[in-house]
Amino acid sequence: MIYLDNNATTPVAPEVSSAMDKCLRDTFGNPSSSHKFGVTAKKAVETAREQVAGLVNAKADEIFFTSGGTEANNMALIGTAMKYKSGHIITSCIEHPSVMNPLKHLESLGFNVTYLPVNKYGMVTASDVLRNINKNTILISIMHSNNETGSIQPVNAIGKVAKSIGITFHCDAAQSVGKVPVNVNSLNVNLLTIVSHKFYGPKGIGALYIKNGTSIKPIIYGASHEHGIRPGTENVAGIVGLGKASSLAKKEMKHRTESMKHLSQILHGELQKNIPGVKLNGHASRRLPNTLNISFPNVSGASLLSRSGKEIAASTGSACHAGKLTPSDVLTAMGISDRDALSSLRISLGRSNTITQIRIAAKAIVKAYRSF
Ligand SMILES: Cc1ncc(COP(=O)(O)O)c(C=O)c1O
Repeated sequence: MIYLDNNATTPVAPEVSSAMDKCLRDTFGNPSSSHKFGVTAKKAVETAREQVAGLVNAKADEIFFTSGGTEANNMALIGTAMKYKSGHIITSCIEHPSVMNPLKHLESLGFNVTYLPVNKYGMVTASDVLRNINKNTILISIMHSNNETGSIQPVNAIGKVAKSIGITFHCDAAQSVGKVPVNVNSLNVNLLTIVSHKFYGPKGIGALYIKNGTSIKPIIYGASHEHGIRPGTENVAGIVGLGKASSLAKKEMKHRTESMKHLSQILHGELQKNIPGVKLNGHASRRLPNTLNISFPNVSGASLLSRSGKEIAASTGSACHAGKLTPSDVLTAMGISDRDALSSLRISLGRSNTITQIRIAAKAIVKAYRSF
């Protein structure tokens, strides 16, 4: 079976699992202990912090380890809101549930939230962000790239706007870090979410970049780990895995980007050639190199997937509620009809896909499509 669902999660790189394995065996100390075992564990955590910082051009003391993207997003949003106690927040209508749901919670506490619309490519505009800023705006949260379409948001331009007005800017870069270069300084972000299992690290570990000079309140309370911002004894092996995945991603970035772009172009081309009327959802060029979100005429994505499912693992954006398929909110927000949204597949490539696999996957999808 060919794995084409790398936006859901990636396999752990062998280099990452051996670093974690060694850590689990040899580095069992508590990083807070002052004896040799603790010092060794602390050193492993700090090395990983530098590796993660190196991937996004941050300083090591700006990286705070979390249990993943969901926690990093909650920390950024609720932690900023609790600092200001009230105010207005700007986001987009295509954010991940781990941004949407903390914001709904903040609305229930009295915060005002503006959900910006997106254009047909699934992108917000910096001018829309600017137009919606008011004197109460405390936070802007816009994702770097969308998990369903791969469209990359104009984060750079939004960062400039936020910086010029002095508003905290959070960016959920869960899908971008490790796939495309992400530089916290050129993006002008204050807070940025990093998720290990999207780039060949383990699950259950991530990080929040907090720019020096930006402060947030903790959302959980405990001892002084991670400067009291994220208390709890560190997941040392997970952190070591994330660190290793970060240094690998930095080393392989150019090759990964080029190879995934090349292979996804071939796959898209094959589908276009053999299935008249396929539509690519999202921006044609401002996109993640690995992500293809494609609508197939007159079939449901779910049935297409189940007929090609013996050969490929991919996903649909549709969700099943009470036995009925509902179209993806992201696709419908882009103005895509329910019918086209329900006929879409998200195919997300990874670093180990080969040209042979891509040709087999294309054939499997075309064969399944023709069987309707
Ligand atoms: C854009 C985006 N943000 C946040 C997350 C949450 O990451 P996790 O499930 O590891 O907490 C995901 C995971 O799919 C994601 O795609």
